[in-house]
Amino acid sequence: MIVALTGAGISAEVGIPTFRGKGGLWNKEDPKELATLSAFLKDPVKVWKWYDWRRSLIKEKHPSEAHHLLARKKIPVITQNVDGLHQRAGSEQVVELHGNLWRVRCLNCSYKGWNYDTPLKEVPPKCPECGGLLRPDVVWFGEPLPEEAIRESLELLNYCSLMLVIGTSGSVYPASQLPYYAKERGAKLVEINPEETPLSPLMDLKIRKGATEGLKEFFSSYEL
Ligand code: OAD
Repeated sequence: MIVALTGAGISAEVGIPTFRGKGGLWNKEDPKELATLSAFLKDPVKVWKWYDWRRSLIKEKHPSEAHHLLARKKIPVITQNVDGLHQRAGSEQVVELHGNLWRVRCLNCSYKGWNYDTPLKEVPPKCPECGGLLRPDVVWFGEPLPEEAIRESLELLNYCSLMLVIGTSGSVYPASQLPYYAKERGAKLVEINPEETPLSPLMDLKIRKGATEGLKEFFSSYEL
């Protein structure tokens, strides 16, 4: 079975900025100020304004051809992206390691729900059930990954014979460990990324192209 691990590079093709590298969000902003629970508690308005901006940007975009190719080939996807574009492209099996920026959850009660307002009606948004502070249901630095996402990822990788590693810098733990896990279980690894990454030495094949061109080349060469 083929499994894809995707990162911000697959969405970069439709104009959603990556985090690192040229034009990366973390070149302009300090992740400690925007993507940690302590930053959120210190200034929820600032953090929500940044998420509101990202949500508005993403809402206008459509999935890339690469998202559609993975969906058409029915390849299960493990993604670090929070933009929901794999689902919008029609992928049925998507494991979200870092959550989803269209979902919110309450810091005060157990409320969790979807919110597609762009811009948000109020910043910061309040819980419809208890009036508490809502946060984006994404994983911030220092927070554990959702247990179910880890379990589902490992289950997929236990049956994986070929892993496509697409558009990730491979620099964020523990997502960056998944290719090692797959390789240890005998999977072949293919990296599709215009740039070298820390994961490159692990790869059986490196396609130094963007996600769409790289996937097309891969599928045409391997007739899958
Ligand atoms: P990064 O921004 O770290 O890396 C993006 C990767 O995409 C780089 O290796 C680029 O070379 C590559 N890339 C750029 N354009 C591409 C294209 N057209 N096709 C294919 N690849 C391309 O993004 P991630 O690895 O996804 O976490 O980052 C991992 C995590 O770091 C994110 O989920 C986020 C961030 O902090 C959290 O917010 C917890």
